[in-house]
Amino acid sequence: MSGLSAEEKRTVSARAAEEDVAEGSLRPQTLAEFIGQASLRANLGIFITAARARAEPLDHVLLHGPPGLGKTTLGQIIARELGVGFRATSGPVLQRAGDLAAVLTNLQPRDVLFIDEIHRLAPAIEEILYPAMEDFQLDLIIGEGPAARSVRIDLAPFTLVGATTRAGLLATPLRERFGIPLRLSFYTPAELERIVSRGAQKLGFALAADGAAEIATRSRGTPRIAGRLLRRVRDFAAVAAHPLVDRPIADEALNRLEVDRLGLDAMDRRYLARIAEHHGGGPVGVETLAAALAEARDTIEDVIEPFLIQEGLVLRTSRGRVLGEPGWRHLGLVPPPRLPGQLDLLDEARDEAG
Ligand SMILES: Nc1ncnc2c1ncn2[C@@H]1O[C@H](COP(=O)(O)OP(=O)(O)OP(=O)(O)O)[C@@H](O)[C@H]1O
Ligand SMILES: [Mg+2]
Repeated sequence: MSGLSAEEKRTVSARAAEEDVAEGSLRPQTLAEFIGQASLRANLGIFITAARARAEPLDHVLLHGPPGLGKTTLGQIIARELGVGFRATSGPVLQRAGDLAAVLTNLQPRDVLFIDEIHRLAPAIEEILYPAMEDFQLDLIIGEGPAARSVRIDLAPFTLVGATTRAGLLATPLRERFGIPLRLSFYTPAELERIVSRGAQKLGFALAADGAAEIATRSRGTPRIAGRLLRRVRDFAAVAAHPLVDRPIADEALNRLEVDRLGLDAMDRRYLARIAEHHGGGPVGVETLAAALAEARDTIEDVIEPFLIQEGLVLRTSRGRVLGEPGWRHLGLVPPPRLPGQLDLLDEARDEAG
């Protein structure tokens, strides 16, 4: 990546932001088309309308939540609803001050600059971002040694939309510069059912209501997964020459994909089984689990755990992960009697969740 020019890097990141074509075709284009996240959507709609009426840039927006819930989609929608340009880049791509300076100086007034994985910005780049966000100014050091001088460049007022799966990893000064922090949560089965039905219409195939409901309840609360399962179910139905995809057909296809009743995949089940079988239900540290499962700790914390924790299958405690009752039951195992130490941990996890 470091051998690329700034322009090439922007192109690469723009492509990454665009995702694959199949996924892009299901992307909602307007706030009205965006399903779910009701209060987030209502608030955002008000802020956008107000900014438009004042002909001012929208305040900076931080979108955070697990992968596939619609952060990139919302970033694009914000630009479209504001009627301004959209530039996308990402934290790891911006390696040198010049990379960010090039992006910032190319912005038109009120444009949206989308920075994906903003928790992975280098600290030196963050420092440049602060005055840019606050005063729309860029302070650059030009030259080296005694000849070095600092220049201040005025930027067009813009809106930064940052996306992250981990708001907790953001430096506090950065987090505090976002006037509109928005947290995305997992979607309900009813919301996913609407997303899946809309998706089937767009893809042009017949999906019965009970087929949509089946896919929705097995999508891990995540539109990206719902879209992926929808496309795979369509493939199965096409090959089996079923003109209408109903529940039995969806169920059969999903079983073949090893997506279980709760929507968990093989990796989720390996994770749960590891805690049950090797650690007596926990507590076990996330590093230990990462090593045993040969997965990056980040993947475990960002991708696997959020849904399992929301469903109560796993609890996060100060001494590590503990399998919850539903976790044991989902594995078809009987939870062993809790030891006194484990009971304390469970109380603590419940307090934290509540
Ligand atoms: N509310 C929604 N309604 C319909 N489809 C949605 C919605 N939210 C997301 N999607 C679909 O889910 C897919 C993933 O969304 P998106 O790329 O915006 O997620 P993300 O939060 O940016 O994920 P990541 O953290 O991996 O970058 C897209 O194809 C999009 O079409
Ligand atoms: Mg994204």
